Amino acid sequence: MTVLDPKPLLEFRNINTHYGAVHILKDVDLAIYPGELVCLLGGNASGKSTTLKTLLGMVTPTTGEVVLDGEVVNDKPTSYRVERGITMVPENRRLFKRLSVKENLELGAYLRNDKDGIAEDLERIYGMFPRVKERLSQRAGTLSGGEQQMVAMGRALMSRPRVLLMDEPSMGLAPALVETNFELIQQIHKEGVAIFMVEQNANMALSIADRGWVLQTGKVVLDDTADALLQNQDLRAAYLGQA
Ligand SMILES: Nc1ncnc2c1ncn2[C@@H]1O[C@H](COP(=O)(O)OP(=O)(O)O)[C@@H](O)[C@H]1O
Ligand SMILES: [Mg+2]
Repeated sequence: MTVLDPKPLLEFRNINTHYGAVHILKDVDLAIYPGELVCLLGGNASGKSTTLKTLLGMVTPTTGEVVLDGEVVNDKPTSYRVERGITMVPENRRLFKRLSVKENLELGAYLRNDKDGIAEDLERIYGMFPRVKERLSQRAGTLSGGEQQMVAMGRALMSRPRVLLMDEPSMGLAPALVETNFELIQQIHKEGVAIFMVEQNANMALSIADRGWVLQTGKVVLDDTADALLQNQDLRAAYLGQA
């Protein structure tokens, strides 16, 4: 268990969101502390991606506050939030398929102008993902799913995030790669980056997480340590495929 810094990096205070007239997130409170690994579980259409998009400013809440480092950022654009240390590996990775691997990585640093720092971070990412380094001039669209996932993570790390949001990072990966993917997530976490991860793979996500939340039709129904959630009979029945 991570020792919690008293001040959250990222918070939702009583958030409600709508798409048109449809009420999605309902009175959601969340807090993510520096350096922890938290997972968000829940069935299809329960509002998991909407949660991440609201944190990042791609969806505007109808009521409530999104708080980054103690500052209410509801009216701040995504770029402002990225500059302050939050970034996302989107669902399905969303690489620029016709650009090279190197160009994709460099785009992750588009809000930075510290050339030396950028070069340093590229080297760090090559060290972390040697397979990416071997393919720098290759078009991103020609990589395998697992390799694309590495590039997407590398691209996100190029903004030097303090908290990384990940939307279903193991989706679409061959089973053998899912485990590697979770190992990479742990590695990033060990470097001190807080991670907030949406996953369908509840068992595996909880096995590496400190804490977890469960969303059901836009409401937080469980909020506990990962160990407690792994033992929770209701959750086991609903999401872990075992009663
Ligand atoms: N841009 C949108 N416009 C209208 N409805 C949306 C939009 N995005 C998502 N929804 C709906 O909101 C609900 C929650 O979606 P989402 O947050 O993507 O769920 P999850 O990631 O948990 O599967 C779903 O019913 C989905 O169809
Ligand atoms: Mg989703």
